[in-house]
Amino acid sequence: MALDDCRIIELPKIHDVRGNLTFVEGTRHIPFDIKRVYYLYDVPGGSDRGGHAHGKLHQFMIAMSGSFDVVLNDGDRERRYHLNRSYNGIYICPMTWRTLDNFSSNSVCLVLASDFYDEADYYRSKDDFLTAVKAQQR
Ligand code: TYD
Repeated sequence: MALDDCRIIELPKIHDVRGNLTFVEGTRHIPFDIKRVYYLYDVPGGSDRGGHAHGKLHQFMIAMSGSFDVVLNDGDRERRYHLNRSYNGIYICPMTWRTLDNFSSNSVCLVLASDFYDEADYYRSKDDFLTAVKAQQR
């Protein structure tokens, strides 16, 4: 999969004067079943998160509060996305190097993932990631 498979997905938004409501259904609104949910919070200003890729994992990230940037790189190209709405998010396909930065104060990043936590699925070295991308392109 390449960078073009990663994309901003708009979620359903039920507008209500009492407060808006958004929901996400696995395989309906995002292209995978949700097996794990985690979130980043209390991120100090100037922090970077991510800095890795996954071999098989699909993820979907939402700025539940505040804002941050997600930089995606598929080994050939790079794109920066700014997330600042609770009703959309970025779908990150497998074999995509991601870095999160530019966190606003009190931001919360919710991540929906297609599988349980598995350290063996991580590429934590950019060189190893680029080598694996090249091997897959052959
Ligand atoms: P990591 O995915 O490296 O976060 P980031 O890329 O944002 O810095 O995870 C940080 C630590 O948390 C790492 O030691 C693994 C652990 N972790 C879990 O135990 N379970 C999880 O579901 C996640 C996402 C991380």
